[in-house]
Amino acid sequence: MDCTESECSQRQDLERILIGRDEIARRVNELGRQITADYAGRELVIICILKGGLPFAADLMRKIDLPLQLEVVGASAYKGATTTTARLRITKDVDHDMAGRHVLLIEDIYDTGNTLHAVHELLDLHKPASLEICALLRKDKPRPTDLPIRYVGFDIEDVFVVGYGLDYKERYRNLPCVGVLKSEIYKE
Ligand code: IMP
Ligand code: MG
Repeated sequence: MDCTESECSQRQDLERILIGRDEIARRVNELGRQITADYAGRELVIICILKGGLPFAADLMRKIDLPLQLEVVGASAYKGATTTTARLRITKDVDHDMAGRHVLLIEDIYDTGNTLHAVHELLDLHKPASLEICALLRKDKPRPTDLPIRYVGFDIEDVFVVGYGLDYKERYRNLPCVGVLKSEIYKE
């Protein structure tokens, strides 16, 4: 089912679709090819940041043609709201030591950067051989310190989006596209 079609029930909550599922699939393919080429001859560990990074990491890892290990980390910054709080909790650490490994962090969105800063700091303590970031979305906004994001799926305007992993109050993560919610949903 395509969420551009009327039978996708959550589609009606979107004001507009920002990135369609075919466009996402094409870009995930490209990123997979690029990562495969960049890490040729090396073994990669991809670390998915829960929960928003899940669909992206699941699709992307199958487009990477390399020996690869998967880890997940949990970081919680949102309390069901549409603005980021500065406080952040690591709710799930990696299961293995990352010393000497080539690590690629997979995140749904680079918004304020609080999450990526915290997880990047945590992983840096492991002394990996390399530590890079891949974010599906990057919002166009000023940040006090900018993290270098090696791989970006899409640069988007500074609007609140849902779908393909991104939630509003834990909903809409299963939408196959990325879209902007109707403002009346926030007011409910
Ligand atoms: P940060 O502000 O870069 O730390 O982003 C923290 C987390 O907030 C991201 O991993 C997302 O889960 C969530 N987030 C940020 N912007 C959005 C958005 O536009 N829609 C839904 N979730 C968002
Ligand atoms: Mg969230």
